[in-house]
Amino acid sequence: MKNHPYNHFLKWNIYQIYPRSFCDSNGDGIGDLNGITSRLNHLKALGIDAVWLSPCYQSPNDDNGYDIADYYDIMDEFGSLDDWKIMIKKMHELDIKLIMDLVPNHTSTAHHFFQESRKGKDNPYSEYYYWFDSPPNDWQAAFGGSAWQYDEVRKQYYLHSYAISQADLNWDNPQVRQAMRDIIDFWVDLGVDGFRIDVIDQISKDFSGHNAFGPHLHEYIRDMFGRDKVKHLFTVGECWVDSEEEIIKHCHPSRRELVTLFQFDHFDKARQGKFTLDKDSRYDLNAVKKHLVKWQNFTQKESLLYTLFTDNHDQPRFLSRMNIDERLRYQAATMLATMFYLLKGVPFIYQGQEIGVLNSRYQSINSYRDIETLNFYEENKGRYSETQLLEMINNGSRDHARRPMPWDDSSYGGFSIVTPWIDVNLDYQTINVKNAKADEHSIFNYYQTLLKLRKEDVFIEGIFTDLSDKRQDCFIYQRHDENRKVVVLINFEKEQMIDINLDVKQILLSNYDDLPDECARIYRPFEVVVYEIIESKHA
Ligand code: GLC
Ligand code: CA
Repeated sequence: MKNHPYNHFLKWNIYQIYPRSFCDSNGDGIGDLNGITSRLNHLKALGIDAVWLSPCYQSPNDDNGYDIADYYDIMDEFGSLDDWKIMIKKMHELDIKLIMDLVPNHTSTAHHFFQESRKGKDNPYSEYYYWFDSPPNDWQAAFGGSAWQYDEVRKQYYLHSYAISQADLNWDNPQVRQAMRDIIDFWVDLGVDGFRIDVIDQISKDFSGHNAFGPHLHEYIRDMFGRDKVKHLFTVGECWVDSEEEIIKHCHPSRRELVTLFQFDHFDKARQGKFTLDKDSRYDLNAVKKHLVKWQNFTQKESLLYTLFTDNHDQPRFLSRMNIDERLRYQAATMLATMFYLLKGVPFIYQGQEIGVLNSRYQSINSYRDIETLNFYEENKGRYSETQLLEMINNGSRDHARRPMPWDDSSYGGFSIVTPWIDVNLDYQTINVKNAKADEHSIFNYYQTLLKLRKEDVFIEGIFTDLSDKRQDCFIYQRHDENRKVVVLINFEKEQMIDINLDVKQILLSNYDDLPDECARIYRPFEVVVYEIIESKHA
Protein backbone atom coordinates (compact mmCIF):
# COMPACT_ATOMS: atom_id res chain seq x y z
CA MET A 1 0.00 0.00 0.00
CA LYS A 2 2.97 2.37 -0.39
CA ASN A 3 2.00 5.75 -1.87
CA HIS A 4 -1.61 4.93 -1.24
CA PRO A 5 -3.64 8.16 -1.27
CA TYR A 6 -5.25 7.44 2.09
CA ASN A 7 -2.34 5.90 3.96
CA HIS A 8 -1.45 9.01 5.92
CA PHE A 9 -4.75 8.59 7.80
CA LEU A 10 -3.38 5.38 9.32
CA LYS A 11 -1.31 7.61 11.58
CA TRP A 12 -4.33 9.22 13.19
CA ASN A 13 -5.31 8.02 16.63
CA ILE A 14 -8.95 9.13 16.70
CA TYR A 15 -11.00 9.76 19.83
CA GLN A 16 -14.79 9.93 19.77
CA ILE A 17 -16.48 12.54 21.94
CA TYR A 18 -20.15 12.37 22.82
CA PRO A 19 -20.53 16.06 23.68
CA ARG A 20 -23.52 15.77 25.96
CA SER A 21 -21.57 13.52 28.30
CA PHE A 22 -18.01 14.74 28.13
CA CYS A 23 -17.64 17.83 30.29
CA ASP A 24 -20.06 20.49 31.53
CA SER A 25 -18.40 23.90 31.73
CA ASN A 26 -21.30 26.10 32.83
CA GLY A 27 -23.07 24.11 35.51
CA ASP A 28 -26.31 23.11 33.77
CA GLY A 29 -25.65 19.37 33.95
CA ILE A 30 -25.07 19.04 30.21
CA GLY A 31 -21.73 18.62 28.50
CA ASP A 32 -20.77 21.42 26.11
CA LEU A 33 -18.15 22.69 23.68
CA ASN A 34 -16.29 24.84 26.20
CA GLY A 35 -16.12 21.72 28.35
CA ILE A 36 -14.42 19.90 25.49
CA THR A 37 -11.99 22.78 24.95
CA SER A 38 -11.07 22.67 28.62
CA ARG A 39 -10.17 18.98 28.39
CA LEU A 40 -8.09 18.91 25.23
CA ASN A 41 -4.94 18.39 27.25
CA HIS A 42 -6.29 15.02 28.35
CA LEU A 43 -6.54 13.97 24.72
CA LYS A 44 -3.11 15.30 23.93
CA ALA A 45 -1.63 13.38 26.85
CA LEU A 46 -3.30 10.21 25.64
CA GLY A 47 -1.76 10.57 22.19
CA ILE A 48 -4.78 11.61 20.16
CA ASP A 49 -4.48 13.15 16.69
CA ALA A 50 -8.13 13.66 15.77
CA VAL A 51 -11.53 13.95 17.40
CA TRP A 52 -14.78 12.62 15.98
CA LEU A 53 -17.42 14.76 17.60
CA SER A 54 -20.94 13.32 17.70
CA PRO A 55 -23.53 15.87 16.47
CA CYS A 56 -23.47 19.27 18.12
CA TYR A 57 -25.97 21.03 15.84
CA GLN A 58 -29.33 22.57 16.80
CA SER A 59 -31.64 19.75 17.73
CA PRO A 60 -34.69 19.01 19.87
CA ASN A 61 -32.66 16.07 21.16
CA ASP A 62 -35.09 13.23 20.70
CA ASP A 63 -32.08 11.20 19.60
CA ASN A 64 -29.42 13.35 21.30
CA GLY A 65 -28.51 15.44 18.31
CA TYR A 66 -28.94 12.82 15.58
CA ASP A 67 -32.22 14.65 14.91
CA ILE A 68 -30.93 17.90 13.46
CA ALA A 69 -33.09 21.02 13.22
CA ASP A 70 -30.38 23.35 11.87
CA TYR A 71 -27.15 22.08 10.34
CA TYR A 72 -25.62 25.56 10.38
CA ASP A 73 -25.81 26.26 14.07
CA ILE A 74 -24.68 24.81 17.39
CA MET A 75 -27.18 23.37 19.84
CA ASP A 76 -27.96 26.04 22.47
CA GLU A 77 -27.12 23.65 25.30
CA PHE A 78 -23.65 23.08 23.82
CA GLY A 79 -22.78 26.75 23.30
CA SER A 80 -22.45 28.92 20.21
CA LEU A 81 -20.71 28.92 16.87
CA ASP A 82 -18.12 31.21 18.44
CA ASP A 83 -17.42 28.58 21.11
CA TRP A 84 -17.07 26.03 18.32
CA LYS A 85 -14.56 28.28 16.53
CA ILE A 86 -12.51 28.60 19.70
CA MET A 87 -12.65 24.83 20.16
CA ILE A 88 -11.41 23.99 16.67
CA LYS A 89 -8.71 26.67 16.90
CA LYS A 90 -7.39 25.14 20.13
CA MET A 91 -7.56 21.68 18.62
CA HIS A 92 -5.55 22.76 15.62
CA GLU A 93 -3.01 24.52 17.85
CA LEU A 94 -2.52 21.19 19.59
CA ASP A 95 -2.33 19.44 16.23
CA ILE A 96 -5.63 17.64 16.79
CA LYS A 97 -7.93 17.37 13.78
CA LEU A 98 -11.70 17.71 13.97
CA ILE A 99 -14.09 15.25 12.35
CA MET A 100 -17.71 16.39 12.49
CA ASP A 101 -20.69 14.06 12.43
CA LEU A 102 -22.87 14.49 9.35
CA VAL A 103 -26.42 13.16 9.37
CA PRO A 104 -27.60 13.18 5.75
CA ASN A 105 -30.29 10.50 5.86
CA HIS A 106 -32.80 12.35 8.00
CA THR A 107 -33.56 15.64 9.70
CA SER A 108 -35.60 16.42 12.73
CA THR A 109 -39.23 17.11 11.90
CA ALA A 110 -38.50 20.46 13.58
CA HIS A 111 -36.18 21.36 10.68
CA HIS A 112 -37.66 24.11 8.51
CA PHE A 113 -37.39 21.82 5.45
CA PHE A 114 -39.91 19.50 7.07
CA GLN A 115 -42.05 22.27 8.48
CA GLU A 116 -42.39 23.65 4.95
CA SER A 117 -42.65 20.29 3.22
CA ARG A 118 -45.60 19.17 5.27
CA LYS A 119 -47.58 22.24 4.19
CA GLY A 120 -48.48 20.64 0.91
CA LYS A 121 -47.61 19.69 -2.63
CA ASP A 122 -47.27 23.29 -3.83
CA ASN A 123 -44.66 24.16 -1.26
CA PRO A 124 -41.12 24.58 -2.67
CA TYR A 125 -39.92 22.01 -0.12
CA SER A 126 -42.69 19.56 -0.93
CA GLU A 127 -40.37 16.93 -2.40
CA TYR A 128 -37.68 17.15 0.28
CA TYR A 129 -39.11 14.08 2.04
CA TYR A 130 -40.89 10.93 0.90
CA TRP A 131 -44.66 11.40 0.99
CA PHE A 132 -47.20 8.69 0.20
CA ASP A 133 -50.95 8.44 0.51
CA SER A 134 -50.50 5.04 2.09
CA PRO A 135 -47.37 3.18 3.22
CA PRO A 136 -45.74 1.61 0.12
CA ASN A 137 -44.17 -1.20 2.16
CA ASP A 138 -43.97 -2.62 5.67
CA TRP A 139 -40.60 -1.22 6.71
CA GLN A 140 -40.02 -1.02 10.42
CA ALA A 141 -38.29 1.86 12.21
CA ALA A 142 -35.02 1.06 13.97
CA PHE A 143 -36.43 2.42 17.21
CA GLY A 144 -39.63 0.40 16.99
CA GLY A 145 -42.94 0.49 15.17
CA SER A 146 -43.75 1.18 11.53
CA ALA A 147 -41.33 3.39 9.61
CA TRP A 148 -44.32 5.23 8.14
CA GLN A 149 -46.02 8.02 10.02
CA TYR A 150 -49.23 9.80 9.07
CA ASP A 151 -48.88 13.55 9.16
CA GLU A 152 -52.07 15.41 10.08
CA VAL A 153 -50.96 18.57 8.31
CA ARG A 154 -50.02 17.12 4.93
CA LYS A 155 -52.52 14.27 5.26
CA GLN A 156 -49.97 11.83 3.90
CA TYR A 157 -47.41 9.39 5.27
CA TYR A 158 -43.70 10.17 5.55
CA LEU A 159 -40.79 7.80 6.10
CA HIS A 160 -38.82 7.73 9.34
CA SER A 161 -36.21 4.99 9.52
CA TYR A 162 -35.48 5.91 13.16
CA ALA A 163 -37.63 7.95 15.57
CA ILE A 164 -40.94 9.44 14.46
CA SER A 165 -39.31 12.86 14.68
CA GLN A 166 -36.45 11.84 12.35
CA ALA A 167 -37.91 12.16 8.83
CA ASP A 168 -35.89 10.63 5.96
CA LEU A 169 -34.79 13.13 3.35
CA ASN A 170 -35.64 12.41 -0.26
CA TRP A 171 -32.22 12.15 -1.86
CA ASP A 172 -33.70 11.62 -5.30
CA ASN A 173 -34.48 15.32 -5.22
CA PRO A 174 -31.44 17.23 -6.57
CA GLN A 175 -32.28 20.16 -4.26
CA VAL A 176 -31.70 17.91 -1.25
CA ARG A 177 -28.32 16.89 -2.61
CA GLN A 178 -27.42 20.52 -3.20
CA ALA A 179 -28.54 21.40 0.32
CA MET A 180 -26.27 18.71 1.76
CA ARG A 181 -23.29 19.87 -0.33
CA ASP A 182 -23.84 23.40 0.94
CA ILE A 183 -23.82 22.14 4.53
CA ILE A 184 -20.61 20.20 3.98
CA ASP A 185 -18.95 23.20 2.35
CA PHE A 186 -19.97 25.51 5.14
CA TRP A 187 -18.11 23.38 7.69
CA VAL A 188 -15.18 22.72 5.38
CA ASP A 189 -14.75 26.46 4.95
CA LEU A 190 -14.66 26.73 8.73
CA GLY A 191 -11.76 24.29 8.78
CA VAL A 192 -13.08 20.84 9.64
CA ASP A 193 -10.81 17.97 8.68
CA GLY A 194 -13.37 15.27 8.01
CA PHE A 195 -16.79 13.79 8.55
CA ARG A 196 -18.21 10.68 10.10
CA ILE A 197 -21.33 10.04 8.07
CA ASP A 198 -24.35 8.62 9.82
CA VAL A 199 -26.11 5.60 8.24
CA ILE A 200 -24.66 6.40 4.82
CA ASP A 201 -26.04 3.18 3.31
CA GLN A 202 -29.60 4.40 3.71
CA ILE A 203 -29.63 7.57 1.63
CA SER A 204 -30.89 5.88 -1.52
CA LYS A 205 -34.07 3.81 -1.23
CA ASP A 206 -35.66 1.03 -3.14
CA PHE A 207 -39.22 1.01 -1.86
CA SER A 208 -39.82 -2.46 -3.20
CA GLY A 209 -36.74 -3.84 -1.45
CA HIS A 210 -34.67 -3.02 1.62
CA ASN A 211 -34.26 0.30 3.33
CA ALA A 212 -30.53 0.46 2.46
CA PHE A 213 -28.16 0.21 -0.53
CA GLY A 214 -30.65 1.72 -2.96
CA PRO A 215 -29.89 2.03 -6.67
CA HIS A 216 -28.35 5.54 -6.53
CA LEU A 217 -26.33 5.19 -3.36
CA HIS A 218 -22.91 5.51 -4.93
CA GLU A 219 -23.87 8.30 -7.25
CA TYR A 220 -25.15 10.27 -4.27
CA ILE A 221 -22.04 9.63 -2.20
CA ARG A 222 -19.88 10.86 -5.07
CA ASP A 223 -22.10 13.91 -5.38
CA MET A 224 -21.08 14.78 -1.87
CA PHE A 225 -17.49 13.64 -1.56
CA GLY A 226 -16.18 13.15 -5.08
CA ARG A 227 -15.63 16.87 -5.45
CA ASP A 228 -12.15 18.43 -5.52
CA LYS A 229 -13.07 20.85 -2.77
CA VAL A 230 -13.45 18.02 -0.27
CA LYS A 231 -11.01 15.41 -1.49
CA HIS A 232 -8.54 16.11 1.32
CA LEU A 233 -11.09 15.18 4.01
CA PHE A 234 -11.09 12.07 6.14
CA THR A 235 -14.51 10.49 5.64
CA VAL A 236 -15.82 7.44 7.44
CA GLY A 237 -19.29 6.12 6.75
CA GLU A 238 -21.35 4.17 9.22
CA CYS A 239 -22.35 1.14 7.19
CA TRP A 240 -23.84 -2.15 8.31
CA VAL A 241 -22.35 -4.06 5.42
CA ASP A 242 -20.61 -7.35 4.83
CA SER A 243 -20.64 -7.49 1.05
CA GLU A 244 -17.09 -7.28 -0.27
CA GLU A 245 -18.29 -5.72 -3.48
CA GLU A 246 -20.16 -2.98 -1.62
CA ILE A 247 -17.18 -2.23 0.58
CA ILE A 248 -14.92 -1.80 -2.44
CA LYS A 249 -17.51 0.47 -4.03
CA HIS A 250 -17.73 2.64 -0.94
CA CYS A 251 -14.08 3.14 -0.33
CA HIS A 252 -11.73 2.19 -3.10
CA PRO A 253 -9.71 5.35 -3.83
CA SER A 254 -10.54 5.17 -7.52
CA ARG A 255 -14.24 5.62 -6.69
CA ARG A 256 -13.85 9.04 -5.02
CA GLU A 257 -16.49 8.19 -2.45
CA LEU A 258 -15.37 7.60 1.15
CA VAL A 259 -12.01 6.99 2.79
CA THR A 260 -13.25 4.18 5.00
CA LEU A 261 -16.26 2.58 6.69
CA PHE A 262 -17.30 1.42 10.09
CA GLN A 263 -18.14 -2.24 9.64
CA PHE A 264 -19.86 -4.11 12.42
CA ASP A 265 -19.33 -7.84 11.95
CA HIS A 266 -17.17 -8.06 15.05
CA PHE A 267 -20.14 -6.76 17.02
CA ASP A 268 -23.25 -8.30 15.61
CA LYS A 269 -21.82 -11.59 14.39
CA ALA A 270 -19.86 -12.21 17.56
CA ARG A 271 -22.65 -11.88 20.09
CA GLN A 272 -26.39 -12.22 20.45
CA GLY A 273 -28.45 -9.03 20.11
CA LYS A 274 -27.85 -5.96 22.21
CA PHE A 275 -30.71 -6.51 24.64
CA THR A 276 -30.17 -10.02 25.94
CA LEU A 277 -30.33 -11.85 29.23
CA ASP A 278 -27.01 -12.29 31.01
CA LYS A 279 -26.46 -15.83 29.87
CA ASP A 280 -26.51 -14.73 26.22
CA SER A 281 -24.82 -11.41 26.55
CA ARG A 282 -21.14 -12.23 26.08
CA TYR A 283 -18.94 -11.64 23.08
CA ASP A 284 -17.41 -14.75 21.64
CA LEU A 285 -13.82 -13.59 21.25
CA ASN A 286 -13.02 -16.44 18.87
CA ALA A 287 -15.74 -15.09 16.60
CA VAL A 288 -14.46 -11.54 17.02
CA LYS A 289 -11.04 -12.78 15.93
CA LYS A 290 -12.48 -14.62 12.94
CA HIS A 291 -14.13 -11.48 11.62
CA LEU A 292 -11.11 -9.32 12.27
CA VAL A 293 -8.89 -11.74 10.36
CA LYS A 294 -11.33 -11.88 7.49
CA TRP A 295 -11.49 -8.11 7.10
CA GLN A 296 -7.77 -7.57 7.70
CA ASN A 297 -6.99 -9.96 4.86
CA PHE A 298 -9.62 -8.47 2.62
CA THR A 299 -8.78 -4.81 3.13
CA GLN A 300 -5.10 -5.60 2.75
CA LYS A 301 -5.70 -7.43 -0.51
CA GLU A 302 -7.88 -4.65 -1.90
CA SER A 303 -5.75 -1.78 -0.56
CA LEU A 304 -8.54 -0.37 1.57
CA LEU A 305 -8.38 1.24 4.98
CA TYR A 306 -10.00 -0.62 7.84
CA THR A 307 -11.34 0.94 11.05
CA LEU A 308 -10.43 -0.49 14.44
CA PHE A 309 -12.94 0.03 17.23
CA THR A 310 -14.62 -1.78 20.09
CA ASP A 311 -16.92 0.93 21.40
CA ASN A 312 -19.00 3.89 20.32
CA HIS A 313 -22.04 5.84 21.50
CA ASP A 314 -24.45 3.16 20.24
CA GLN A 315 -23.00 0.18 22.06
CA PRO A 316 -22.83 -0.98 25.65
CA ARG A 317 -19.23 -1.12 26.86
CA PHE A 318 -17.42 -3.99 25.12
CA LEU A 319 -15.40 -4.67 28.25
CA SER A 320 -18.56 -5.35 30.25
CA ARG A 321 -19.64 -7.97 27.77
CA MET A 322 -16.48 -10.03 28.04
CA ASN A 323 -16.19 -12.71 30.70
CA ILE A 324 -14.33 -10.63 33.19
CA ASP A 325 -13.71 -10.92 36.80
CA GLU A 326 -13.59 -7.34 38.16
CA ARG A 327 -10.09 -7.99 39.45
CA LEU A 328 -8.89 -8.53 35.90
CA ARG A 329 -10.31 -5.29 34.51
CA TYR A 330 -6.83 -3.96 33.78
CA GLN A 331 -5.74 -7.10 31.96
CA ALA A 332 -8.98 -7.39 29.99
CA ALA A 333 -9.08 -3.73 28.95
CA THR A 334 -5.45 -3.70 27.86
CA MET A 335 -5.84 -7.00 26.04
CA LEU A 336 -8.81 -5.72 24.10
CA ALA A 337 -7.03 -2.52 23.12
CA THR A 338 -3.88 -4.35 22.04
CA MET A 339 -5.79 -6.93 20.04
CA PHE A 340 -7.52 -4.22 18.00
CA TYR A 341 -5.14 -1.32 17.80
CA LEU A 342 -2.05 -3.18 16.60
CA LEU A 343 -3.99 -4.46 13.61
CA LYS A 344 -3.74 -2.54 10.36
CA GLY A 345 -6.21 0.31 10.27
CA VAL A 346 -7.40 3.55 11.76
CA PRO A 347 -8.03 3.28 15.51
CA PHE A 348 -11.01 4.89 17.21
CA ILE A 349 -11.11 5.20 20.98
CA TYR A 350 -14.46 6.01 22.56
CA GLN A 351 -14.49 8.34 25.56
CA GLY A 352 -13.97 6.45 28.80
CA GLN A 353 -12.43 3.44 27.14
CA GLU A 354 -8.96 4.75 28.00
CA ILE A 355 -9.72 4.29 31.69
CA GLY A 356 -11.74 1.08 31.35
CA VAL A 357 -15.22 2.42 32.08
CA LEU A 358 -17.81 -0.33 32.60
CA ASN A 359 -21.58 -0.57 32.20
CA SER A 360 -23.47 0.61 35.29
CA ARG A 361 -26.27 -1.73 36.24
CA TYR A 362 -29.00 0.57 37.50
CA GLN A 363 -32.09 -1.03 38.94
CA SER A 364 -34.68 1.38 37.61
CA ILE A 365 -35.68 2.45 34.12
CA ASN A 366 -35.65 6.01 35.48
CA SER A 367 -31.88 5.94 35.21
CA TYR A 368 -32.13 5.56 31.44
CA ARG A 369 -32.67 8.28 28.83
CA ASP A 370 -32.02 6.78 25.42
CA ILE A 371 -34.96 6.62 23.00
CA GLU A 372 -33.95 3.17 21.74
CA THR A 373 -33.83 1.84 25.31
CA LEU A 374 -37.07 3.49 26.40
CA ASN A 375 -38.92 2.27 23.31
CA PHE A 376 -37.56 -1.23 23.87
CA TYR A 377 -38.80 -1.09 27.44
CA GLU A 378 -42.29 0.05 26.43
CA GLU A 379 -42.62 -2.45 23.61
CA ASN A 380 -41.55 -5.43 25.71
CA LYS A 381 -43.29 -4.67 28.97
CA GLY A 382 -45.90 -7.39 28.45
CA ARG A 383 -43.42 -9.96 27.25
CA TYR A 384 -40.83 -9.98 30.05
CA SER A 385 -40.87 -9.32 33.77
CA GLU A 386 -39.52 -6.00 35.06
CA THR A 387 -36.45 -7.83 36.40
CA GLN A 388 -35.74 -9.46 33.07
CA LEU A 389 -36.25 -6.21 31.18
CA LEU A 390 -33.80 -4.41 33.40
CA GLU A 391 -31.31 -7.22 33.02
CA MET A 392 -31.55 -6.88 29.24
CA ILE A 393 -31.27 -3.12 29.39
CA ASN A 394 -28.35 -3.37 31.77
CA ASN A 395 -26.61 -5.48 29.15
CA GLY A 396 -27.55 -3.63 26.02
CA SER A 397 -28.45 0.01 26.48
CA ARG A 398 -26.66 2.71 24.55
CA ASP A 399 -26.76 4.78 27.74
CA HIS A 400 -23.82 2.80 29.13
CA ALA A 401 -21.67 4.72 26.70
CA ARG A 402 -23.45 7.97 27.43
CA ARG A 403 -23.05 8.34 31.17
CA PRO A 404 -20.97 11.36 32.21
CA MET A 405 -17.25 11.00 31.69
CA PRO A 406 -15.78 10.34 35.15
CA TRP A 407 -12.96 12.82 35.59
CA ASP A 408 -12.39 12.47 39.34
CA ASP A 409 -14.04 11.24 42.53
CA SER A 410 -15.82 14.48 43.45
CA SER A 411 -19.61 14.62 43.20
CA TYR A 412 -20.84 13.80 39.68
CA GLY A 413 -17.36 12.61 38.83
CA GLY A 414 -16.12 16.12 38.11
CA PHE A 415 -18.30 16.17 35.01
CA SER A 416 -20.58 18.87 36.39
CA ILE A 417 -21.30 20.73 39.59
CA VAL A 418 -25.03 19.93 39.41
CA THR A 419 -27.05 16.77 38.83
CA PRO A 420 -26.23 15.71 35.27
CA TRP A 421 -28.84 15.00 32.58
CA ILE A 422 -28.21 11.30 33.08
CA ASP A 423 -26.98 9.40 36.15
CA VAL A 424 -23.23 8.98 36.55
CA ASN A 425 -21.46 5.61 36.53
CA LEU A 426 -22.02 3.77 39.79
CA ASP A 427 -18.27 3.23 40.22
CA TYR A 428 -17.04 6.71 39.30
CA GLN A 429 -15.30 7.08 42.66
CA THR A 430 -12.81 4.40 41.69
CA ILE A 431 -12.87 4.41 37.89
CA ASN A 432 -12.00 7.96 36.91
CA VAL A 433 -9.34 9.89 35.00
CA LYS A 434 -7.67 11.31 38.08
CA ASN A 435 -7.10 7.90 39.63
CA ALA A 436 -5.92 6.48 36.33
CA LYS A 437 -3.35 9.21 35.89
CA ALA A 438 -2.06 8.82 39.43
CA ASP A 439 -1.49 5.10 39.00
CA GLU A 440 1.59 4.12 37.03
CA HIS A 441 0.00 0.80 36.28
CA SER A 442 -3.27 2.09 34.92
CA ILE A 443 -5.22 1.34 31.78
CA PHE A 444 -4.64 4.98 30.81
CA ASN A 445 -0.88 4.60 31.01
CA TYR A 446 -1.01 1.43 28.97
CA TYR A 447 -3.10 3.21 26.32
CA GLN A 448 -0.51 5.98 26.15
CA THR A 449 2.22 3.44 25.48
CA LEU A 450 0.11 1.47 23.03
CA LEU A 451 -1.00 4.49 21.01
CA LYS A 452 2.60 5.61 20.72
CA LEU A 453 3.82 2.16 19.76
CA ARG A 454 1.26 1.77 17.00
CA LYS A 455 2.73 4.78 15.22
CA GLU A 456 5.93 2.90 14.49
CA ASP A 457 6.16 2.06 10.79
CA VAL A 458 5.72 -1.66 11.19
CA PHE A 459 2.29 -1.12 12.75
CA ILE A 460 1.27 1.52 10.22
CA GLU A 461 2.23 -0.06 6.93
CA GLY A 462 3.36 -3.52 7.96
CA ILE A 463 1.71 -6.55 6.41
CA PHE A 464 -0.73 -8.46 8.60
CA THR A 465 -0.53 -12.24 8.84
CA ASP A 466 -2.64 -14.38 11.12
CA LEU A 467 -0.45 -16.91 12.94
CA SER A 468 -3.14 -18.35 15.18
CA ASP A 469 -3.38 -21.49 13.10
CA LYS A 470 -5.93 -23.85 14.68
CA ARG A 471 -5.38 -22.44 18.14
CA GLN A 472 -8.50 -21.43 20.00
CA ASP A 473 -9.01 -18.85 22.74
CA CYS A 474 -6.08 -16.77 21.59
CA PHE A 475 -5.13 -14.54 18.69
CA ILE A 476 -1.58 -14.45 17.37
CA TYR A 477 -0.68 -12.22 14.49
CA GLN A 478 2.36 -10.84 12.80
CA ARG A 479 3.07 -7.44 11.32
CA HIS A 480 6.14 -7.04 9.16
CA ASP A 481 7.75 -4.61 6.78
CA GLU A 482 11.16 -4.57 5.11
CA ASN A 483 12.87 -3.65 8.36
CA ARG A 484 11.03 -5.31 11.20
CA LYS A 485 8.89 -8.19 12.22
CA VAL A 486 6.66 -8.25 15.29
CA VAL A 487 4.31 -10.84 16.72
CA VAL A 488 1.31 -9.81 18.79
CA LEU A 489 0.24 -12.63 21.08
CA ILE A 490 -3.14 -12.27 22.74
CA ASN A 491 -4.48 -14.84 25.16
CA PHE A 492 -8.21 -14.73 25.86
CA GLU A 493 -9.79 -15.30 29.25
CA LYS A 494 -8.53 -18.81 30.01
CA GLU A 495 -5.12 -19.60 31.33
CA GLN A 496 -3.56 -21.94 28.75
CA MET A 497 -0.39 -23.35 27.28
CA ILE A 498 0.53 -21.74 23.97
CA ASP A 499 3.15 -23.62 22.12
CA ILE A 500 4.91 -21.23 19.83
CA ASN A 501 8.51 -20.85 18.76
CA LEU A 502 9.75 -17.35 18.12
CA ASP A 503 13.21 -15.86 17.69
CA VAL A 504 12.63 -13.09 20.14
CA LYS A 505 14.80 -10.00 19.90
CA GLN A 506 12.93 -8.03 22.54
CA ILE A 507 9.56 -7.57 24.16
CA LEU A 508 7.89 -4.36 23.07
CA LEU A 509 4.84 -4.44 25.32
CA SER A 510 3.02 -6.66 27.78
CA ASN A 511 0.29 -6.36 30.37
CA TYR A 512 1.68 -8.67 33.07
CA ASP A 513 4.83 -8.35 35.16
CA ASP A 514 7.26 -11.21 35.71
CA LEU A 515 7.52 -12.40 32.16
CA PRO A 516 9.12 -15.82 31.79
CA ASP A 517 11.91 -16.07 29.20
CA GLU A 518 10.29 -18.72 27.07
CA CYS A 519 7.56 -17.81 24.63
CA ALA A 520 6.21 -21.36 24.49
CA ARG A 521 4.60 -21.38 27.91
CA ILE A 522 1.45 -20.99 29.95
CA TYR A 523 -0.20 -17.64 29.32
CA ARG A 524 -2.33 -16.05 32.00
CA PRO A 525 -5.91 -14.73 31.60
CA PHE A 526 -5.97 -11.87 29.07
CA GLU A 527 -2.21 -11.86 28.85
CA VAL A 528 -0.70 -9.95 25.95
CA VAL A 529 2.88 -9.89 24.76
CA VAL A 530 4.18 -8.00 21.76
CA TYR A 531 7.40 -9.65 20.61
CA GLU A 532 9.92 -8.16 18.25
CA ILE A 533 11.44 -10.94 16.18
CA ILE A 534 15.02 -11.30 14.99
CA GLU A 535 14.92 -10.92 11.24
CA SER A 536 16.92 -13.41 9.31
CA LYS A 537 17.62 -11.64 6.04
CA HIS A 538 17.79 -14.84 4.06
CA ALA A 539 14.67 -16.49 5.38
C1 GLC B 1 -26.70 6.13 13.81
C2 GLC B 1 -26.20 6.81 15.06
C3 GLC B 1 -27.18 6.61 16.16
C4 GLC B 1 -28.48 7.24 15.73
C5 GLC B 1 -28.95 6.72 14.37
C6 GLC B 1 -29.99 7.61 13.78
O1 GLC B 1 -26.77 4.77 13.94
O2 GLC B 1 -24.93 6.35 15.38
O3 GLC B 1 -26.76 7.15 17.38
O4 GLC B 1 -29.46 6.99 16.68
O5 GLC B 1 -27.91 6.68 13.43
O6 GLC B 1 -29.43 8.84 13.40
CA1 CA C 1 -23.24 22.81 30.08
